[in-house]
Amino acid sequence: MRINGSTVLVGVIGNPVKHSLSPVILNAAFREAKINWVYTAFETPEEKLADAIGGIRALGIAGLSVTMPHKARVCSLLDEISDSAQSLGAVNCIVNDAGNLKGHNTDGDGFLDAVKHDAGLDVAGKKVLVIGSGGSARSIIYSLGKAEAREIAVINRTKNKALDALELAGSVGRHVEENEIPKVVSEADLVINATPVGMSDTEGTSSFPLEPNLLTKGQLAVDLIYHPISTPWMEALRDREVEVHGGLSMLIFQAAKAFKLWTGKDAPVEAMRKAALDEIEN
Ligand SMILES: NC(=O)c1ccc[n+]([C@@H]2O[C@H](COP(=O)([O-])OP(=O)(O)OC[C@H]3O[C@@H](n4cnc5c(N)ncnc54)[C@H](OP(=O)(O)O)[C@@H]3O)[C@@H](O)[C@H]2O)c1
Repeated sequence: MRINGSTVLVGVIGNPVKHSLSPVILNAAFREAKINWVYTAFETPEEKLADAIGGIRALGIAGLSVTMPHKARVCSLLDEISDSAQSLGAVNCIVNDAGNLKGHNTDGDGFLDAVKHDAGLDVAGKKVLVIGSGGSARSIIYSLGKAEAREIAVINRTKNKALDALELAGSVGRHVEENEIPKVVSEADLVINATPVGMSDTEGTSSFPLEPNLLTKGQLAVDLIYHPISTPWMEALRDREVEVHGGLSMLIFQAAKAFKLWTGKDAPVEAMRKAALDEIEN
């Protein structure tokens, strides 16, 4: 596509944001769908956030992805907030509808789409174990609850944060004490690593997020880390013939939801995945 006077602008706002894969993923989507839109990154310090949101309205920017550290603070600057973003207190996508700015959160539902795509799993009626209680874990816990998982068990280094996150799970939430871990893991249909343990820059300083020997063939695991594409935990699980997927699909499917919110069209997810993989591997 050629950029011209009719090109619609969207982007991602965060700080830092230059490392973001989103411009690569969304521009690949616009090219594949032959839509005259372009997506860029706006590195914005916290003290400029309100001005930046005013700028969306002033310039007619069609929408923004929102990443750290702005996901929580941006909520109070918008006109409307979706139920999920309201419950999570975090927005990752803004839609500009003729000056009315609505905040959404597509992370948790993006995860559910990813696990359906990668493993054919519908989480309804399933027992799920989440390791971690940060932003990504919270959005997944919320969506698992809405999707009627049978049990949402949570382990976290800091117990209070786990208890906080469990408030998003509804009545099926359960905090896992240390001595309960082996039994809860063995009964889980799906185990999710929502911690950074295993990322390239933590290698050597930490071990696995959860002892791989606790899982067996027939179980399913997802590591939300997408860089590297395969983590030491994923490798160890594969050695035990546990089905395991990385975090790239969640990244793609949350972006696909933003694409749909902005353009009204289904996103070309395979073109988006290919562009992301090319960027990570080169
Ligand atoms: N695939 C995707 O689309 C996607 C999207 C978002 C995030 N992610 C990935 O998911 C991971 C978590 O991201 P986030 O945004 O949720 O981060 P976050 O908000 O900072 O939360 C990090 C969580 O990991 C725990 N943790 C951190 N270091 C740990 C360690 N050394 N040992 C045990 N637990 C540790 C923290 O525990 P405490 O509560 O004790 O601090 C917290 O629960 C990152 O690797 C990120 O790259 C992937």
